[in-house]
Amino acid sequence: MDQAFRDAMTAGYALSEPGLVLGSPMHDGEVFNDARVQVALSILNRHGLIAGATGTGKTKTLQLLAGQLSKAGVPVFVADIKGDLTGLAAPGDATNPRLQERVTSLAWDFQASGHPVEYLSLSGKLGAQVRATVHSFGPLLMGKVLGLNDTQTSILALIFKYCDDNSLPLLDLKDLVATLKFLSSDEGKPILADYGGMSSASVGVLLRSIVVLQQEGADVFFGEPEFEVGDLLRTTSDGLGIISVLELSDVMDQPRLFSTFMLWMLAQLYESLPEAGDLPKPKLCFFFDEAHLLFDEASKALLDEVERTARLIRSKGVGIYFVTQAPTDVPAPVLAQLGNRVQHALRAFTPDDADALRKTARTFPTTEFYDVEKTITALGTGEALVTVLSPRGVPTPLAATRLLAPDSLMAPITPEAFSAAVAASPFATKYGATVDRDSAYEIINGRIAAARAATADAAMRAGVDPTTAAGMNTMTPAQQQREITRQAREMAAAEKAAERDRKAQAKAEADAAKARQHSIDSAIRTGARWSHRGPARTSSGASSARSSGAASPASQHPVALAGPAGWPSGAPRVTGGTRQTGSPDPQTLGGTSVTCDRSCAASSARGMATMSSRVLRPRM
Ligand SMILES: Nc1ncnc2c1ncn2[C@@H]1O[C@H](COP(=O)(O)OP(=O)(O)OP(=O)(O)O)[C@@H](O)[C@H]1O
Ligand SMILES: [Mg+2]
Repeated sequence: MDQAFRDAMTAGYALSEPGLVLGSPMHDGEVFNDARVQVALSILNRHGLIAGATGTGKTKTLQLLAGQLSKAGVPVFVADIKGDLTGLAAPGDATNPRLQERVTSLAWDFQASGHPVEYLSLSGKLGAQVRATVHSFGPLLMGKVLGLNDTQTSILALIFKYCDDNSLPLLDLKDLVATLKFLSSDEGKPILADYGGMSSASVGVLLRSIVVLQQEGADVFFGEPEFEVGDLLRTTSDGLGIISVLELSDVMDQPRLFSTFMLWMLAQLYESLPEAGDLPKPKLCFFFDEAHLLFDEASKALLDEVERTARLIRSKGVGIYFVTQAPTDVPAPVLAQLGNRVQHALRAFTPDDADALRKTARTFPTTEFYDVEKTITALGTGEALVTVLSPRGVPTPLAATRLLAPDSLMAPITPEAFSAAVAASPFATKYGATVDRDSAYEIINGRIAAARAATADAAMRAGVDPTTAAGMNTMTPAQQQREITRQAREMAAAEKAAERDRKAQAKAEADAAKARQHSIDSAIRTGARWSHRGPARTSSGASSARSSGAASPASQHPVALAGPAGWPSGAPRVTGGTRQTGSPDPQTLGGTSVTCDRSCAASSARGMATMSSRVLRPRM
C-alpha cells in the first residue's frame, strides 16, 4: 500500500480527543487498520450528510453512529422509516458470519451492545405520541404539509396572524377549519379585507386542503399535549445518551407530514435551546432520514427557513444529519453547511444518474489517491467515501472507508419486546391522552352562538321565532336575519293563499249543493234506481256517455271517495279507486271535485298550521 496514503490517513484522522470510529481506510482493495477513520465529538454539531443508493448501508451507518453517540453520553434522535432501527435497543448478533468477516477484516474487537431507546410515534400506536399544535407548527410548515404554494402559504400566515390578534388559539385542525369557515362566511369577509384583502375563494382553497388532510386521518397528529422537545435531550442515570426513535412505518404513506414533523421538532429545539458556543460534545444529534422528502416541493420561504435553522442551531449544540440517496437531493445552501460526509455507493444506470454522480463527485475535496467518480460507483455495501471536519474545522482527507458494523442488532426486535418497551415508557402517560381545551373552534362557535342568541332575542321581540325546524340553529347571524325576512314573506303569502282556498271551498260547496239538488231532481224525473254499488245502467246514451269514467279526468283519481256528508242513502259511489261505469259524473255531482277541493284546502290548512307553528308566535 502506498506510504503516502498511509501517512495521509494517519495524520488526517488522528484525534487527541474523544470521537466516533467509522471504520478503516481502503486503498486498492486493501484495508489499512493502523489508522481509523474517525470524527471528534466536538465537531459533530457541524452537521453532516449520509448519502447513497438504496441498500448500500445508509441506515446501518446511522445505527453505527447512534450507538456510539449514546455510549459517549450524547442523546440522539433518529427517524425509523421502515421499522428497521428498533434493533438499536438489542445487542448485535455476534454469531452472524458476515458480521464476523467484517469485524475480522477490520481487526476490530466487537462488543455486542443494546442501547437505551425511547420509541416515539406520530400515530401513538408505535410509541409515545408526538403531537404538535397547529399554532406551533406555524404557517410555513402547515403550508408544506398541505402542499400550498407561496401565495397560499402567505394567506395562511395572515390567518395565523388574525388568530393571534384575536386570541384564538389554533391547537388542532378543527380550530383551523372553524376559523377558515368563519372567515369565508359573510361576517368574515370584512375581516378578510382588513387582513390584506384576502378573497374568500382563496380561503376556500385552504379550507378544502385541510379537509382533505383531515380525511387522511391527520387529526390525531395535531393538538395537545404537545410533545416537549426537551424530552429528546435525556441521558440515563449512568450517563448514556437516550436514543429517541421516531417510528414512522405506519405513516409511511404520509411522507409530507412526517418529514415536516421532523422539521417542526428541529424548529422547536432551535427556539427552546440557549446559545451554547463550542461544546466538547453535542447536546443532541438529529438524524433526518429520507431528507429529500423535506425539500421536495418546499416553498422558497421554507427552504430559507431550513437553511437558517441549520446554520443557527449549530451554536446551540445540535448536529443535524441528513440521510438521503443523492447529495443533489439537498439544496445547495444547506449542502454547503454539511461538513461531515459519508457517501455510500451511487449507481449510474441512467444519464440522469451519471449526471448526479458527476455533480456529487465535484462536491468532495480533491484527492491524489482516488478517482472520486469511479470510487463512488465501485464501493461495496457498508463502505463509503468519507470526509469529516477535523477538530480544527478543516476537512479531513477523502477516505474510502470500510465501515464498522453497529454493535446493536441489525434487524428489528421482536414485536413482544417492542410492545413491552413502549408500555414501560414514562411517556405513555405523559403523552397518552389527548387534551381538548377551549381553543379557536370553541371560541368561534361560542361567539357565533352568542350572536345567534342576540339575533333570536331581537327576532322574538319582533314576533318571529328564529329557532325552529328551518335550521336556524346552525346559521350565522346574517343568515338568520335573511331567514327571518324570508319567513315573514312566506307567512304573508300563506295568509293570501289560505284566503283564496277559503273562497274556493265556499264556492265548491255551493256548486255541490246545486249539483246534488239537480241530481235528485233528475232521479225523480227518470225514476232511476241506485244500488249500493252504483246506478243501474240507463238506456240513455247521453246519460251513459256523460257518466263514463273515461269521459272525466276527475274520475281517474285513484282515491276511494266517500260521498259528501248528508248524501242520501243510495247516493252515487266510487269504490276500489275506480268509479263504476255509469256512476254519475263526479264533476257534475261535485263528488271528486269537492273532495279534491277539501283535500287541497286541508293541505293548505295543514301548510298554514305548520307555517303558523313555524313562523307565528303569539304577540306578547
Ligand atoms: N456497516 C455495515 N456492517 C455490516 N453490514 C452492513 C453494514 N452496512 C450495510 N450492511 C448490510 O447491508 C444491508 C443494507 O443496509 P441498509 O439497510 O443500511 O441500506 P440502506 O442504504 O439504508 O438501504 P435503503 O435505502 O433501502 O434504506 C444491511 O441489511 C446489512 O446486511
Ligand atoms: Mg435505509
